[in-house]
Amino acid sequence: MKSKAITDNFLDADVNALAVAVFKDEKPTNGVLKEFDTITGGLVASTIKSEEFKGEAGETLLLRFMPKGKNRAGSVLLIGIGEKSDYKAANVAKVAGTAARFLRKCKAKSFALIPRCEAADDAEVAACAMQGVITSQFELDKYKTQEKNGTSIDTFVLCIEGANSKDLKNGLERGEIIGDSMNFTRDLANEPANILPPTEMANRAQKMAKEANLKCEILDEKQMEKLGMGSLLSVSLGSAQPAKLIVLRYEPKKSTGKKGEMLALVGKGITFDTGGISIKPSENMDAMKYDMSGGASVIGTMRAIGLLKPTVPVLGIIAAVENMPDGKATRPGDVVTAMNGKTIEILNTDAEGRLVLADAVAYAEQQGATRIVDMATLTGAVIIALGDSHTAILGNDQQLIDEVIECGKDAGENFWQLPVGAGYSKGIKSDIADIKNIGPARKAGTIMGAVFIEEFVDKAKWAHLDIAGTAWADAEKPHHSKGPTAVAVRTLLKLVEKSQ
Ligand code: BES
Ligand code: MG
Ligand code: ZN
Repeated sequence: MKSKAITDNFLDADVNALAVAVFKDEKPTNGVLKEFDTITGGLVASTIKSEEFKGEAGETLLLRFMPKGKNRAGSVLLIGIGEKSDYKAANVAKVAGTAARFLRKCKAKSFALIPRCEAADDAEVAACAMQGVITSQFELDKYKTQEKNGTSIDTFVLCIEGANSKDLKNGLERGEIIGDSMNFTRDLANEPANILPPTEMANRAQKMAKEANLKCEILDEKQMEKLGMGSLLSVSLGSAQPAKLIVLRYEPKKSTGKKGEMLALVGKGITFDTGGISIKPSENMDAMKYDMSGGASVIGTMRAIGLLKPTVPVLGIIAAVENMPDGKATRPGDVVTAMNGKTIEILNTDAEGRLVLADAVAYAEQQGATRIVDMATLTGAVIIALGDSHTAILGNDQQLIDEVIECGKDAGENFWQLPVGAGYSKGIKSDIADIKNIGPARKAGTIMGAVFIEEFVDKAKWAHLDIAGTAWADAEKPHHSKGPTAVAVRTLLKLVEKSQ
């Protein structure tokens, strides 16, 4: 997609359509809205007067008119944004995405957006706008041979009067990297398990690493055995597909972070989760192709990091494993030993995410990580607790948790903290081993998953994101298709950049 910035009047844009953000109850008596009212021959004022359009957040209205004078576009899309005081750069991504999706469906090939987010930094507004446009174009049609989404936006023009054009250009470039990285994540998460087994997930990460200046190392089962990763390997026993540990490294040319500090992003990459011998019911089991969404978000974030080149090192670890039932599969009751020496009684083979993460976080720390953020579609319980609007966050370090939550606010992603602590950790004590992989039935399922992973963190500061509810959108939104969401990519990128 081509992009362009205009810092003079928006009427200079040579596009099929114009899109403009409109505040709640705003009247077109002056400024940009008045200009729109003039070029539409009074249509803006009349639709506002008739209360057809009120500027509420998420509202859209398309006006068609005969272009006059300098303006060549024959339509204007009004996009409601609600209260001016709530309007932040992150909202611009939604506004731009909503416009791009709406106008694409009207067969527009190009459009100009007047975002009107004056409180925020222009470069950040540009980045959010471009990201929103790019992610809005993602569709689930990769495997359709018919009924593809025939139209696409191929030129996006951003208009911020009086802005510095270099700032906007940089912002647009940044937004392109972030948007493409999110769509890269979403493509991975959407891949069927026959097309993306662990080996293919590793191949895609490796290919991406070359393009994004990252180091990539793929550990095979033999190497993991040598490292003592008995917990992770117990999950792949029932699968014909060998497990892979994907290790991505970003090392800046010149580091400005605290000496000896390293952030690691660790992702659950279960390419398909049947539940193993504790097999899941067949209804909706197909959804479990998304059980590698945490890993996909790590891969996408690392892509963005490699291309944006922050000045701090970042380690990305993805445990790519398939969970299948088979004659060789792990049985409920089996005991395994993890890399850190702890023994685990596996009482439910469907609680496999924590088993692979146990060794992945221990490995991250062995590799020098001092802060770890893991992300995983870990529990069905988090969907009961928080639904699809907030990601659960838990961990052993309040400062890190607060930082992730703050970065989430800046990025437009919601997190909600759940507790951990001794009162919960006692729930995973095993009768015959150090710990067991499930807690008491139906009690605090998401917390039980987290306190299990905590057993494998030694000195590092650690936060765990349970993205089971937020990694997949069950319905289309104005700015976003149904399906994978690339959750946490934008937030984690902010976290990395904040520690520079
Ligand atoms: N991948 C699932 C989590 C999940 C379940 C996501 C349903 C979305 C919808 C995970 O591996 C799992 O099966 N977890 C179990 C844990 C339980 C056995 C303690 C769960 O949540 O039921
Ligand atoms: Mg195997
Ligand atoms: Zn499972």
